[in-house]
Amino acid sequence: MEYSELLELNIDNLTASKQNNVRFDLMENPKLGELFNRLSDVVEESGVQAYLIGGYVRDYFLRRPSKDIDVVVLGSGIRLAEKFGSTIGGKVSVFANFGTAMLRYGDIEVEFVGARRESYSRGSRKPVVEDGTLEDDQNRRDFTINALAFSLNKDTFGELVDPFGGLQDLKHGLIRTPLNPDITFSDDPLRMFRAIRFASQLKFKITDDTFEAIGRNKGRMEILSMERVSEELHKMLLSPQPSLGFKLLEESGLLAIIFPQLQALKGVDSIDGKRHKDNFYHTLEVVDNVRKQSDDLWLLWAALLHDIAKPACKRYDTRLGWTFHGHEFLGSKMVPELFKQLKMPLNEKMKYVQKLVLLHLRPIVLSQEEVTDSAIRRLLFDAGDELEDLMLLCEADITSKNEKTVKRHLANFRLARQKLKEIEEKDAIRNFQPPISGELIMETYGLQPSREVGLIKDAIKDAILDGVIRIDYDEAYRFMEQKAEELGLSKRQ
Ligand code: CTP
Repeated sequence: MEYSELLELNIDNLTASKQNNVRFDLMENPKLGELFNRLSDVVEESGVQAYLIGGYVRDYFLRRPSKDIDVVVLGSGIRLAEKFGSTIGGKVSVFANFGTAMLRYGDIEVEFVGARRESYSRGSRKPVVEDGTLEDDQNRRDFTINALAFSLNKDTFGELVDPFGGLQDLKHGLIRTPLNPDITFSDDPLRMFRAIRFASQLKFKITDDTFEAIGRNKGRMEILSMERVSEELHKMLLSPQPSLGFKLLEESGLLAIIFPQLQALKGVDSIDGKRHKDNFYHTLEVVDNVRKQSDDLWLLWAALLHDIAKPACKRYDTRLGWTFHGHEFLGSKMVPELFKQLKMPLNEKMKYVQKLVLLHLRPIVLSQEEVTDSAIRRLLFDAGDELEDLMLLCEADITSKNEKTVKRHLANFRLARQKLKEIEEKDAIRNFQPPISGELIMETYGLQPSREVGLIKDAIKDAILDGVIRIDYDEAYRFMEQKAEELGLSKRQ
C-alpha cells in the first residue's frame, strides 16, 4: 500500500478517536523492516521504551526516502545503541557530551538519544538537558510534523504517537510549532530558517501565528553561526522551487539581516514614468528556471548572485532610461566578500561562481544579433569548461512578461547553441593551449619578459579567435614573425 493511501486511510480515524492506536507497516521497506525488527528485539530485551522519531516518521508519510533514522529512548540512548551495536556487530560512535550515539546499518545511519526535557538560556543554542518523558521530548522539537513518533516496542510496534496533530498538519501541508512559537524559536533560532526551508522543500505553508513569531524573534539569530544558516540556504536553493523559500525569508525580515545585498535588489524606481524591473523577483525567477534544469548547488548560487551588483550600478539616463552598466564586473568582485559573510568556502566553488557572474551577459549577445564566428570562439575560449553552465544560466536569465519576447530570444539562443557546437567541433577552441609560448618568443627575439612579449602572445591568441590562423605551430610562427616585424624586432643571431 502507498504511504499516501495510508495517510488518507488512517488520518480521520486517528483524529476521531484521539487514540494513538493505529499501526503503520514499518516492515514495508524490506531493508528498513529488517533493521526495525532487530531494533525492536533489542528494545524488548533491554526493558525500555523506544520510538522512531522526527524526520524519518515525517518522510514515511511523505514518501520521501530517508536514510537518517532517529531513535528516542526512555532511558539511556547510549546504552541502547551499545547493546544494539553488539547484537549486530556494528561500531558505535558515542557523543557523551550530547548524550547521543550513532551507528551505521549498511548505508543507513541510526542515531540514539535519551528522551529529554530541555531548557535554554537566552545566550546560547546549547540547552540544559534533563531526562524526560516521550511527551517532554516531543514538546521540545521544532515542528508538529517533526514530532511524530512510531513505537518500537513489541506490543505497540508501529503505533503512532502524535500529541500535536502533526499528521493532520502533514495532510494539510502546514508548518507549525508544537509549543508557543515564541518559545520554540527563541530556544533555537535556527528553527526560523528550518521552518522556511521546510516550507520551500515541501511546498508547505507556515501557519500565520508561527510565521508572525519569526518576525518577532528574528533578532535572536545573533546567537546563530552563519555556517548553519548557509546550510539552510543551500537546502532552499536545492528545493524544487527555491523562490518560495527566498520570498518567505524576505517577508519575515530575516533576509535583510543575513543577506542585505540580496534584499537591496527588491524594489522598483520610477523616473519620468520609466520603471525598471524588480531585480529581486527577477533573480528568483532565474533561480527557479535554473533549478528546473539543474541540481548543481553552485550554479544555483551563481543564479542567485548574477545581478547582485545591480543596485550599486543603477543609473538613470534621460535617453537610455535605467542602466546597470558594469554590474557583472562589480558583482563578480563582490562574490568573495559575500561568501565570507555567509561563511561559505573560499575555494574553487567560489571562483566558479565569480566566473559565471562575470560572464553572465556574454551569451545574451548571441541570442540577439547576427553572431560572428569570432564572437563565438571568444566565448568558447573565455568560458572554457563552464560553457554549458553559463549557457544554462543565460537562458534562465531570459525572463519577461512578454511571452513572445521570451520565445524569440530562446529560439535565437537555440541557434547560437547549434553554432557553438559546430565551431567547437571544427576548431577545438575550448581550453586551447597557445601554439607559441612566451619563452619561445623571448628566445627568438632575445627579449626579457616585457610588454612586447605580451603583445605578440595576445596577437596570436586574437588571430586564432578571429579565425585568421588555426591552432597550428607553423601558422602561429609565421604570424609571430609578422607581428614582430611590425614592432621593429629582429631575431637573435
Ligand atoms: N530538531 C529540532 N530542532 C532543530 C533541529 C532538529 O527540533 N533545530 C528535531 C526535529 O524533530 C527533527 C529531528 O530533530 O525532525 C532531526 O533533525 P535533523 O536530522 O536535522 O532534521 P530532519 O527533520 O531529519 O530533516 P533534514 O534532514 O531535512 O534536516
